[in-house]
Amino acid sequence: MKTGLIGWRGMVGSVLMERMRAENDFEHIDPVFFTTSQAGQAAPNVGKGESTLVDAYDFDALMEMDAIITCQGGGYTEKVHPELRSKGWNGYWIDAASTLRMADQATIVLDPVNRPVIDQALADGKKDFIGGNCTVSLMLMGIGGLFKAGLVEWVSSMTYQAASGAGAQNMRELLAQKGHLFEAAVEELKNPASAILDIDRKVSEALRSEAMPTEQFGAPLAGSLIPWIDKAVDDGQTKEEWKGYVETNKILQNDPLVPIDGTCVRIGAMRSHSQALTVKLNQDVSVEQIEDILRGDNDWIDVVPNNKEETLARLTPAAISGTLTVPVGRIRKMKMGPEYVNIFTVGDQLLWGAAEPLRRMLCILQE
Ligand code: HSE
Repeated sequence: MKTGLIGWRGMVGSVLMERMRAENDFEHIDPVFFTTSQAGQAAPNVGKGESTLVDAYDFDALMEMDAIITCQGGGYTEKVHPELRSKGWNGYWIDAASTLRMADQATIVLDPVNRPVIDQALADGKKDFIGGNCTVSLMLMGIGGLFKAGLVEWVSSMTYQAASGAGAQNMRELLAQKGHLFEAAVEELKNPASAILDIDRKVSEALRSEAMPTEQFGAPLAGSLIPWIDKAVDDGQTKEEWKGYVETNKILQNDPLVPIDGTCVRIGAMRSHSQALTVKLNQDVSVEQIEDILRGDNDWIDVVPNNKEETLARLTPAAISGTLTVPVGRIRKMKMGPEYVNIFTVGDQLLWGAAEPLRRMLCILQE
């Protein structure tokens, strides 16, 4: 399968390349590397010999591809996808951007959760396969089992989203902010006897000072948080919050739709999103049964017992960043009643949240 790769040098693209190399995906395809800025230069050698980069706007070259996998971003998709289709290109388009996600002809891919939906789309001759929003994909990797068992009446998802979801520059800015705060109190910190309120005053001043780097986030994130992600949509929701509802229901093809809502919050983690979920079940199911359902759902779930030691060791961004493991813990019944379940889950935003579902879709095409 002649496969065009676009946006492979960016953050998500680099993670995709790493994963494709690690899983020997290149053995099964005939890769062509495209570029928006360096046509003619050497392409990465992925064990298929030397080649050169092709212009990502060379439509003749794109038209020759059986599949295109792009992490170049929504702007590229907007420019290229409609034109390719209008020229009659009938290959598979696999995309990490949100541009096409909710389009009727597009399928949101997260195969451990919605493989039957993907298979049906392929059988129906559909050609556009789009990765979901990271928060949605990570929630469903964690609690997809409960949806599949038909147990979910609604979900409230309160998120703790990492800097990586906002982009590579934001990750740098987060660290620069942390450094700026540390510098403000570095002398006092050397002295264990210094007064904590003096340290706090200096750090608070630094947080609000002009020198705090906030160009990317628009506000301090280190030492603070930002309860707003993406732009406003209707009913007071942000777009990130809206996606939780529409994408979850599209991924699972729920009918009737399951209400999902909550507040999406940016916090100072690097690349793993966390979510505190209130799940309203439609019946009283024991915690042990819930754990069994979650554990049985996919190979990457780690059901973490609800105790401090294992929560600190296994249920944090620090514990799982850079891995495909999706820990799910703090599972307990809530005071509101036996059908209300508290769950906390964490997942790497760049792996299951972005790159992994795309490379797996490419593999599915070769089955
Ligand atoms: N929109 C997400 C975020 C990342 O800002 O964290 C992409 O799904």
